[in-house]
Amino acid sequence: MKIRILMVIVLVSVPLSFSKAESNTVNNLLQNYEKQGANTADAEQGKQLWEKSFNKNGERSCTSCHTKDLTQNGKHVKTKKDIKPMSPSINPERLTNINKVNKWFKRNCKWTYGRECTAQEKSNILVYIDKSKKF
Ligand code: HEC
Repeated sequence: MKIRILMVIVLVSVPLSFSKAESNTVNNLLQNYEKQGANTADAEQGKQLWEKSFNKNGERSCTSCHTKDLTQNGKHVKTKKDIKPMSPSINPERLTNINKVNKWFKRNCKWTYGRECTAQEKSNILVYIDKSKKF
């Protein structure tokens, strides 16, 4: 009897420990964006937006602080502080906290584009970041 229970626990917990917390967060965020009107996320569009420059007192882009290569450290343009890689494949803490992602999307879209990102833009960028890998 005891062994049976143990078996059940092992069988249930092993697959769970493999499923990453981050993908839950990403899925939850994507569902929220869909509720706000976003269509299926497009990573290529996300990449383009990530690298696009906007002019507001000079050039501003997500890459200004995070760089084009999401697997590398970035550097804050103003404070010069290092920013850890954005890619969850290198930095497993990325995209694991809904509040953190929302907070920084809000702040960084405003700083970079001079406005908040739309739900579609956020879902595109989110998937682009989530899928980024070191080649
Ligand atoms: C002026 C510098 C700067 C720019 C430009 C910038 N960011 Fe950031 N970003 C930061 C900092 C600082 C953090 C928080 C520190 C950290 O998480 O390492 C951060 C964190 C984030 C996070 C949180 C990720 C996580 O789960 O940890 C997201 C998402 C993000 N930025 C998206 C963007 C997007 C999208 C753009 C372009 C619209 C952008 N950032 C432009 C500085 C910047």
